[in-house]
Amino acid sequence: MKKIVVLTGAGISAESGLKTFRDAGGLWENHDIMEVASIDGWHKNPELVLQFYNERRKQAYSTMPNEGHKALADLEKDFDVTIITQNVDNLHEKAGSTKVIHLHGELSKVRSTGDAKLIYEYADKPIHWGDTCEKGHQLRPHIVWFGEAVPMMQVAATITEKADIFLVVGTSLVVYPAASLIDFVPTNAPKYIIDPHKPTVSKQNNHLFFIEEKATTGVPKVAKELREKYK
Ligand code: APR
Repeated sequence: MKKIVVLTGAGISAESGLKTFRDAGGLWENHDIMEVASIDGWHKNPELVLQFYNERRKQAYSTMPNEGHKALADLEKDFDVTIITQNVDNLHEKAGSTKVIHLHGELSKVRSTGDAKLIYEYADKPIHWGDTCEKGHQLRPHIVWFGEAVPMMQVAATITEKADIFLVVGTSLVVYPAASLIDFVPTNAPKYIIDPHKPTVSKQNNHLFFIEEKATTGVPKVAKELREKYK
């Protein structure tokens, strides 16, 4: 079975009703990123950060996967598929994808500020200031904030290096190190980029195919082509 590695971003969940970050009307338009999504912001005003992620967690919990997520899950019938997502929602899992790497953490999980190994499933519940882990440390969202390391990056890079086919869906490719993953793809592997607004990709990448469409139509179209060509 050929190995397909897929890098996804906020755009794949847009048609499920979750806002992207940088499009017009995106999440960062009404928020100062550094106030709500950075380690400095957490130290400055943790209650504001908790409130921001409590809203995100509640909203994400009730959303459903769309045809883009479903088409990726369905590819597992014919290919060995790994999804590397920058998204903190769990719509890939809800759609049925079995190998999902969350580069930027997961909204439904929370963890101890004193022991990063203590991670709890919170579903759509809020975290309050004063909520603690079993060792008595404050709980925080299980999210990778600006200014923090990306622990899953090495794992993601190693998997990407073995890709036969690489897909990029709904990411502006401006946030590093996630955006650098495309540079780990073997030179001759085809790379499909599905996004209504073509992101900038470094010129050294070849075998690039741009599908300037939304995820719900673009992903099923590419999935059909992959089956015809590589199954
Ligand atoms: N289908 C596919 N792509 C879409 C759709 C859609 N329906 N709607 C918008 N897009 C595209 C936009 O054109 C854009 O290229 O999705 C991309 C969204 O880009 P961003 O808002 O920058 O989101 P993302 O790339 O996931 O952000 C990366 O930055 O804010 C941090 O940690 C956060 O994980 C996030 C990271």
